[in-house]
Amino acid sequence: MDAKEIICRVEVLSWDELNEQERRLIDEAKRATEGSYSPYSKFAVGAALLLENGEVVRGSNQENVSYPCGLCAERTALYYANATYPDQPVRLLAIAARNAEGFLSSPITPCGACRQSLLETENRFGKPISVLLYGEQKIYRLRSIASLLPLQFEM
Ligand code: THU
Repeated sequence: MDAKEIICRVEVLSWDELNEQERRLIDEAKRATEGSYSPYSKFAVGAALLLENGEVVRGSNQENVSYPCGLCAERTALYYANATYPDQPVRLLAIAARNAEGFLSSPITPCGACRQSLLETENRFGKPISVLLYGEQKIYRLRSIASLLPLQFEM
């Protein structure tokens, strides 16, 4: 038997270790949680995308009484970005989440469907999307969406 090991590098950082651009995008993601419509989960998620042209696009989770109709913050932001700036690669994504007690101390990671959706944009433009996952105590940084979705489906 042969075996492969797939390594996913996750950098664990403090606020002080981030550069100015990264801090700004995290602030945008935190602000985006204010647009969340989440009466069912009471879990507000915000996403902010930095495009190659410098535009920042924000999104938040939008829920529905028919639960599967809801959409995550990441895809709300991503599809708006792709629809509004169809020729602009996404370079950086920040995600923040809060519950009734405030922003979470540890980061949340994007769900599988969001990873797959983000991967399409990453592959479409052939440029990696760096990811910042915000927590009050620690921040995760990843180099690409592909690293979050190993063994991606390809045709
Ligand atoms: N949610 C997001 O918006 N992004 C994620 O990465 C994970 C989950 C939303 C979906 C739902 O509105 C709420 O968080 C609870 O799952």
